[in-house]
Formats: sequence, C-alpha cells, structure tokens
Amino acid sequence: MIQNVYAREVVSLNGSWRAIVDPYETGYYDIFRRPNPRGFFRNHKPRHAADRVEYDFDTSELLRVPGDWNSQQARLFFYEGSVWYKRDFPMSPRAGRRIFVHFGGANYETRVWMNEKPLGVHEGGFGPFAFEVTELLCGGGNFLVAKVDNRRRRGGVPTLDADWWNYGGLTRDVLLVDVPETFVCDYAVQLERGSRRQGVGKVRLDGADREQRVRVRIPEAGVDVSARSDADGLARVAFEADFELWSPESPRLYRVEVEAETDRVVDRIGFRSIETRGHDILLNGERIFLRGISLHEEAPGREGRAHSAEDARTLLGWARELGCNFVRLAHYPHNEHTVRVADELGLLVWAEVPVYWAIDWESPETLANAKQQLGELIGRDHNRASVILWSIANETSPGAARDAFLAELARHARALDPTRLVTAALFSRALDPEHVTIDDPLGEQLDVLACNEYLGWYAPFPEGEEVEWKTAYAKPLVMSELGGGALHGYRGDPGAIWTEDFQAELYRRQIRMLEKIPFLRGMTPWILKDFRSPKRLLPGIQDYWNRKGLLSDRGHRKRAFYVLRDFYRRLASAG
Ligand code: GCU
Repeated sequence: MIQNVYAREVVSLNGSWRAIVDPYETGYYDIFRRPNPRGFFRNHKPRHAADRVEYDFDTSELLRVPGDWNSQQARLFFYEGSVWYKRDFPMSPRAGRRIFVHFGGANYETRVWMNEKPLGVHEGGFGPFAFEVTELLCGGGNFLVAKVDNRRRRGGVPTLDADWWNYGGLTRDVLLVDVPETFVCDYAVQLERGSRRQGVGKVRLDGADREQRVRVRIPEAGVDVSARSDADGLARVAFEADFELWSPESPRLYRVEVEAETDRVVDRIGFRSIETRGHDILLNGERIFLRGISLHEEAPGREGRAHSAEDARTLLGWARELGCNFVRLAHYPHNEHTVRVADELGLLVWAEVPVYWAIDWESPETLANAKQQLGELIGRDHNRASVILWSIANETSPGAARDAFLAELARHARALDPTRLVTAALFSRALDPEHVTIDDPLGEQLDVLACNEYLGWYAPFPEGEEVEWKTAYAKPLVMSELGGGALHGYRGDPGAIWTEDFQAELYRRQIRMLEKIPFLRGMTPWILKDFRSPKRLLPGIQDYWNRKGLLSDRGHRKRAFYVLRDFYRRLASAG
C-alpha cells in the first residue's frame, strides 16, 4: 500500500508497451496446462541459428498504457482473454531507497514479472496494487512483463454478466515509485465522525526503522502535532481546529504535511462531517439533498476507459453543468484522478465495488476478493472529503447467503472506515400498481438506503400516474437509478420509445413522483453519458451502446438533460 502515490518521487511507465495477444495463454501454460517455466515472462531471445523461440515482444504490436485494448484495435473490440505487455526501463538501485512498481488498476487478473522474476498476481479490475522491486533492479536492462486476463468468471467480482463493456488491459497509470527505506506507507487525517472540530490522524510507517517521531502539520489551520510510532510503525495523533469545512459550495482543501524522521509526504485534504439522523443526511450538521447523476468510467469524446485527470474534469464538469452536487461512480472504483478532481470541484461521491447482480454468494474466495477490492478502494480514498458513501452492492437478490455475504462486507467497510456511510442499490417491491415499498432485509446493514427503479421504462407507470412509496426503515433514501433510453437526434412523438421526447417526458413524470417521496434525500439518475454494453444490441439505435445517457456517446445533450437540469436548479434555489 502506498498512500497518495502521485505525491511521491515517481518514474512514469505510461506510453507504448510491446504487446502479445495470447488467447490460449500459450505464453503461460504448457500443453498439460501447467505453468511453463519457459513462459513469455522470460522475454527469451534466440541464442543461435537453430534456437526455436516462437514469440518476440520486440517485433510484436504496441499498445498504449494506460488504456484498454478494446478501443485501440478493431480486432480487440470484443476480445476476452490474455494480453502480454512488456516494457524496458533503465533504473539502478540506490542506497537507502526502495522502488515499487505501482498499477492504478488493470482489468481483470494481472500477473507481473520483472527481469524474469515473478512479482505476484492481482485479481480485481479497478483497484490499485504494487510490488516491491528494489532487489531486482539491474541498472540498464530492466524489463517488466505483465499478463492481463479480462475473462469473466463465475466466482469473480463482478461475475459473468454485467451491463458494461469488459474493457481489458493496463487501463490506468503504471508508475515506478521511489521511497526511503522506511517510509510513510499510509495515513488517514480527518474529523472524528460527527465532529466539526475534533480531528484524528493515523500514520503508518513501513520499513526496518519503524519507531520514529511522526509529525502532522496543517499550517493553515494551526495544527502541529507529533507522536512516536510503535513497533508496528503506527502513530496516532489528535488535534482540534476551527476548519473552514469542505462542502460543494466551498470545497476547501488544506495542505497536510505528514512527516517522519526518514520520510515526508504532502497531501490536500478537506475536512467535513457526514452523518444521518432519521431520514436526513447531514453534511457538516446541515440537512442536504444529493442532486446527483450516475456515471461509468468511460472516456468523454473517444471510445474506451477514462483514466486521466483531464477525462475526470470533462466528465465531472458535465455533472456540474447539470446542477449536480453529487455523483455516483458506478459500478466499480473509478481512477484516483476522478475522486481528487471531485475533491477540488466540490462534488460529493458515492464510491462502489462491483458486487453486481448474480455474485457467487456461497464462495469464500469470492467474498475474500470482494473484501480485498473494498479494502483497496477505502485504502486509496479514505482521505478524500468528497467521498461520503461506500456502496457494497448493486441489484442483488435477498437470500440467506447473499444477506450474510453483504453483512460481512458492510462490517468490513465500517471496520476500515468508521467515518463514512454504507449503502447499496436495492430493488424496490411493488405491493400493487400504486404502492411500492423498500423492505430488503439488507436495509438493516445500511446507513443510507438506495433503490434502482425504472418506472416508465422497464415497468409502466400506473394509469393514474400516482405511485406511493413506502419504506421499512427510518433511514434516508437515495434513488440510485431511474431513467430510460433515447438516441440523440431522434426527435418525434413523446409516445415513441427511443426518441429524445419520450426520454424527456419520462424524466418529467419521474420528477413529479420523486418530489412526493417524503423520505427521499438524493437521486443519481441513470446515466450521465451513453456507454458501451455487450447487452444492448438493437441495430440503428443501440449498436452495443446503452442509450440511457442524458448525453450522447459524443457528449451531445439530449432533451432530458434540460429537464433534469431545470429540476436541480429549482431544488438548489429552494435551498
Ligand atoms: C440496472 C443496472 C445498470 C444498468 C441499468 C440499465 O439497474 O444497475 O448497471 O446499466 O439498469 O438497465 O440500463
């Protein structure tokens, strides 16, 4: 774990990597499906005229990193399998320093070698991971090899079916991180839950010399506290200050210096409190309504995964234009740039792990991986003021195994971070055409209920249009999905499906219903922008795009964008 990797001394390995598309994993297994000691990770070259070597990275194709492979080559658009990546780089070991290779994320299972030595394997398509390579560096001719396998799997998180494109590859930044022998590997500096003055700091050192004097300074708030780390490298500090609290209206970030005797790292952190009281969500003690929108991590204006701060500024800028103070980063952890831009812009964030639909609830390995992915998300983002909600599931069916699995995941989230709220996107249950309730037993485990409903799209509005919502819980509700599809530019009768006019009218009817739900405290309509899906096959309308965006895949506004924007402006002016 390396907290705040972008503040470190790094050498970026972003750029062109050599790549070998290997659908049968010939470079990893022998014909008896055993790992082959002469695999592609050796980057072997013929030593004489008769030396048979049936691969060669250096004459293979190039792929850009960061980037999914699907959007880089037409023949890889649908590809699900393994791709080998190779990158040469010069670096010599330096006395007193340690070097890690850090991946912002790679989908889905990634095996990594350096200079022929195995570094390890990572499962999960959206969380950061790193391997120490200090002892393996050999001056000029280092080479890194990664095998990324995006095949879907029954026991995976997500599992076999999902309504988004299975983009594979080294989809996020790859960095060499250079830190002192004993360094600050993690820290959390934030307000105590429910407090607006009392702060706590937890700092962890990694290395041989873990017992050091640790200091946390927040100069603009007059905070300067120290403590001694214990044998595990853990130091705790407490402080009080009159912070200018972070909020969407005033996203105040403070310079925070975390210092040990052998290392120092600087971050920009906002201080705010988030809690619930009955049906209300309180930000800094004030009731708030979350005017949100859902979005996938898809690049604006081009095909493929978003991965840069610039992509994030465009996507979150569109959310701001819509009048949002909140975004649901669906259905998996988005890249770190996105949550840092949300901190700067003042957008509250719903963060999520891809525990989605028919997960293998009976599998201990699946639960362990879900907990690992949740841990990676919380470990990376626990200093981001914008993040207020950890979502542990989307559209999962109640049942003993599922309820136990998710209860454990909720417990794990709170153990890792007791300061934020836990939620999950649930199904509602129709009592009759005019009455809908939320009574999923999982609600017991949640701080904030969330519900996906598609009245007007997957289910008709009742004739009289009046729908009364009920809930089994005295807890806030966020409507985490609602909406319908439209093809940008297709105008016509509001009764004709796929027209922008149909989608706009659906949003008007939805808003009339939502305004009447007394315990509604937020909404994240589905979805900001059309996105790629293997499940959306209608020629001339979908063509492997899910068309529920308020913006087209090219970023052009549909009529419904203005319906929601007008509603959010009305809410914002009503205060
Ligand atoms: C579901 C699901 C989304 C999906 C959406 C849709 O609720 O959560 O991932 O894309 O509905 O049907 O478009």
